Amino acid sequence: MSPWLTELQAVLRDGPPTDAFAALATVDGDGHPRARMVVMRAVRTGPVRVRFTADGRSAKVRQLAGQARAELCWYPASRWVQFRLAGPVGVVSDPGERQALWAALTPGTRANFLGGPPGQPLGGAGPDATAHDPHPPATFALLEMTVDAVDVVDLRSGAAQRTRWVRHAGDWQPEALNP
Ligand SMILES: Cc1cc2nc3c(=O)[nH]c(=O)nc-3n(C[C@H](O)[C@H](O)[C@H](O)COP(=O)(O)O)c2cc1C
Repeated sequence: MSPWLTELQAVLRDGPPTDAFAALATVDGDGHPRARMVVMRAVRTGPVRVRFTADGRSAKVRQLAGQARAELCWYPASRWVQFRLAGPVGVVSDPGERQALWAALTPGTRANFLGGPPGQPLGGAGPDATAHDPHPPATFALLEMTVDAVDVVDLRSGAAQRTRWVRHAGDWQPEALNP
């Protein structure tokens, strides 16, 4: 298994919750870059897929519908390594998987999906659901990046060491780069 994947799994399993934050970069309809933080909530292997949640009415979900390719820029500060994970992002529609991730969220996080449309003036109608509902509301989107390229910058030894990882026929191949 490639070291970056081992690191990602270890951080999501054992690291401080803040180390799961990553900046998700997308492109909007005018070709402009947009970035915001998300919580990486799960990683699956073979192929590698990183999962996060978003409001289905949000700008990022619209942007991903127009241009699925995105980047997750992740810097778990306790590790001194920057990871840039790139690939297409799709919506996971499996009801069981959506329900399982909804169940894992705190009521406070679930409440984020129950208000008016994100980015609109405060107020407005949300879905007819509560934070204690076992089934996620329609506004709850489970998103998944299928990672096909990774750029790692390791600062642990002082001078930056940069490696690009690309997937070839199912195997991750490293290439050392000038930082
Ligand atoms: C630490 C942190 C974690 C966040 N995690 C998420 C997340 O997992 N999903 C999400 O949709 N928004 C998350 N947000 C809010 C987004 O950064 C953003 O403000 C919001 O989703 C609207 O983005 P958009 O208008 O680009 O769609 C988080 C914000 C912070 C500060």
